[in-house]
Amino acid sequence: CGIIGYCGHRPAVPVIVEGLRRLEYRGYDSAGVAFLQGKDLVTVKAEGKLANLENKLAAQNVYQATSGVGHTRWATHGLPTEKNAHPHLDASRAIALVHNGIIENYQDLKKELVAAGVRCVSETDTEILAQLIGFYLKEEGSLAEAISRALSRVEGSYAIVVVSRENPGMLYAARKHSPLVMGVGVGENFLASDIPAFLPYTREVVFLDDGEMARIDAGSWQVMDAATLEPIAKEVRHIAWDVSAAQKGGYKHFMLKEIFEQPRVIADCLAGRVDRNSGRVILPELEAAEVPERLFIVACGTSYHAGLWGMYLMEQWAGIPTRVEIASELRYRDPILGPGDTVLAISQSGETADTLAGIHLAKARGARVIGLCNVVGSSVAREADLVVHTQAGPEISVASTKAMCSQLALLTLMALAFGQRKGVLPEDAAKNCVPGLEHLPAALDAALPGMRQRARELCRVYAEARSFLYLGRGLCFPLALEGALKLKEISYIHAEGYAAGEMKHGPIALIDPKFPTFALAPIDSLYPKVKSNLQEVQARGGKIIALTQPGGDLDVDHPWETPAAWGPLASFMLLPALQLFAYEMADYLGKDVDQPRNLAKSVTVE
Ligand code: G6P
Repeated sequence: CGIIGYCGHRPAVPVIVEGLRRLEYRGYDSAGVAFLQGKDLVTVKAEGKLANLENKLAAQNVYQATSGVGHTRWATHGLPTEKNAHPHLDASRAIALVHNGIIENYQDLKKELVAAGVRCVSETDTEILAQLIGFYLKEEGSLAEAISRALSRVEGSYAIVVVSRENPGMLYAARKHSPLVMGVGVGENFLASDIPAFLPYTREVVFLDDGEMARIDAGSWQVMDAATLEPIAKEVRHIAWDVSAAQKGGYKHFMLKEIFEQPRVIADCLAGRVDRNSGRVILPELEAAEVPERLFIVACGTSYHAGLWGMYLMEQWAGIPTRVEIASELRYRDPILGPGDTVLAISQSGETADTLAGIHLAKARGARVIGLCNVVGSSVAREADLVVHTQAGPEISVASTKAMCSQLALLTLMALAFGQRKGVLPEDAAKNCVPGLEHLPAALDAALPGMRQRARELCRVYAEARSFLYLGRGLCFPLALEGALKLKEISYIHAEGYAAGEMKHGPIALIDPKFPTFALAPIDSLYPKVKSNLQEVQARGGKIIALTQPGGDLDVDHPWETPAAWGPLASFMLLPALQLFAYEMADYLGKDVDQPRNLAKSVTVE
């Protein structure tokens, strides 16, 4: 989602709408603005494209207000309807609020508010925050104190901007785990989720940090501690980016930005879905469904690799016999599939023609379909009987990265949930998986810059290779397939992913000093097996890069250590390394990383 707030000397609404347009690359499915008209706080919202909002605004006098807020929503759950669109008002229409993030405990807060007589109108977590601030405003009298008190009650992530009836020409904002920046202009100031929103007006920027609150009006700004309201000194930085660089968050390509978003993607996947105390997984979307007796996973491309990976956990943790099918193959077979079977269709876009055909076949045969997809309201989401959303945010680069990370996270949660419900979840997983998952975002975040550096060094060593063999066993077999796919897709170097143990049955004939191997060798029960496969490669003069973990003893040309992670969660460290290697190779070779030749983001034809 994108948010923007403006206080200044220009008519605010056109500035806000234009800012929202520059956030368009984030995708949106509904948009809205809030501003003061006389003494009244007005909100105007519309479903669909920004043009719909503009049409509605054309009928209003929007040139009086010189401050206001706007929001484009990219639904992560909850349909993109006008009622769910931001800004949200409190019951007494004293404040309006735009929000990015997830309020995890909103159900509990809602109960409290309803018991205190507050009438809530939407199903969103954001409205509850607006109501809470409005409720405390009556008791506190000061908006800053009301916001601070409300935020102290909130669990989850947020970037918010608040406009209020009693403080015309002034906005408040706060952030925790969601981006928020302030643009400092002359006689005008901005708050936004992203720099492109205000870049035509100012290049002077203050980056807000977690736990901070900001106040702006046309001529001044202030940052304070959200809990104590003590002022905090902040540095104003000059941004040299143009709009296109700013949309990529300063990264050279969307793919790189999306790789670096993965820690946040994992955190968002977990938000509200695990109970930290009991370790129980909460997936309300699946509550109504029985635990599948047999599971058919259907998908294409990267989503297919995620499915293959998920099979291991479904079998091991939930005892569910699982098959993984390439959608374009399944659709022309006569599979043994019928009532009582469950099909899990995995698709980032939710529009892949072959995957949809797989869903139609499954439904025609009476099987139940669960969709796992990223785009809310997509065809897969609409046609499946039940949908789980991956909440990775819009993925722009054609080569999928963060979407796969979110799919792995959700497959992990689903396998845990099914295993818990059946009472078969192994003790090790029951004890270690949830804490391990929660540890991932920070650990990966810290590791990514070093990983990128290593990828950059290695791609220079291997840039002349015309072919790569990717090897892995167990969970690392699908990762090997994915690593090879990434390299093919964007660097156009031929690569083959293979089950390490199967190599001796053919590919080993290819090995020579010019045919490098990229191995996945985390320290798990299969480590000794992978090690001996690598010795077979070395015996034929093959060069090896091997992703591994601390504590290993690999004697290969280029060992590449990734941070320790519990058991299967090592995959969340290995995957970004594979992505970064492909990325750095493609960039080094001067290829069009975000839009590789011959490929489409979403393949809606057969
Ligand atoms: C295309 C994309 C791939 C993607 C595949 C499946 O081939 O280029 O990156 O993995 O489609 O897409 P889906 O949206 O169904 O996950």
